[in-house]
Amino acid sequence: MTNSIHSPKRSFWIKLSHALLAIAVLHQLVASALMTIPWDKGGSPFSYGLFEYHEIVGIVSLGLILVLIFGLWNHRSERMGAPLNPWFDSNERSPLVSDFRTIISRVVTGDLPNSRDSMRIAHAVQGLGVLSILYMAVTGTLIAILGDDSPLAHDIAEFHGLGGVLVWTYFGGHAAMAIVHELKGEKLIRRMFGSN
Ligand code: HEM
Ligand code: HEM
Repeated sequence: MTNSIHSPKRSFWIKLSHALLAIAVLHQLVASALMTIPWDKGGSPFSYGLFEYHEIVGIVSLGLILVLIFGLWNHRSERMGAPLNPWFDSNERSPLVSDFRTIISRVVTGDLPNSRDSMRIAHAVQGLGVLSILYMAVTGTLIAILGDDSPLAHDIAEFHGLGGVLVWTYFGGHAAMAIVHELKGEKLIRRMFGSN
């Protein structure tokens, strides 16, 4: 396993957009489970209202994810590369596969890796998480622009709905990993959400 990567320094904008996005996406996941979309019948005023909030928070999320991507891109020298670096850089792919094998064998034997050892994989997954949120925010904003009566908006909503499972998986897995590392005393949550 390579140890050439180090803990990244994060700008104010990365931390702010990340924290607001964490709240916004949690809102989107809860709201989407309870809301009724305008072209479906039988909802209550509350469930139709939740859709309005889903729409507004979703459009705000598009701005937030663009700020986060821009911030990460600007700091790529600090964080081993741009968000999707390991997937598109041939020099990064084989260390990623070898780290993945090592991590699996360590987890199987109960020897949980620390965040430094799993950093390359974490970054690769975070890149995919950023892409999944970008997908939801762009398709959602298109639905909002086209309007509730547009048949094309209804078709895009089908594809938007399919992305929900990606967001649930990423959000749950990413937050769970952050908590595991925090419980191990690695202070990742404090560093990501705090001022230092
Ligand atoms: C980051 C932004 C967003 C996230 C994370 C998000 C997330 C979700 C999730 C998880 C679902 C439920 C999928 C399912 O399991 O069926 C959903 C459904 C939906 N969202 Fe969003 N959403 C976002 C932005 C938006 C925006 C801006 C709109 C604009 C109108 C929108 C419109 C819809 C609609 C119409 C559905 C219902 C899709 C269907 O079931 O056919 N979303 N969204
Ligand atoms: C869908 C919403 C989220 C997205 C798109 C997202 C994305 C990211 C990205 C791209 C990074 C890497 C930042 C960098 O390298 O500078 C990161 C790091 C981190 N995120 Fe999230 N995140 C989300 C939600 C959350 C939530 C809810 C938590 C709650 C615990 C969380 C905790 C963390 C922590 C602790 C780190 C630092 C990890 C480390 O130092 O290796 N994130 N997140």
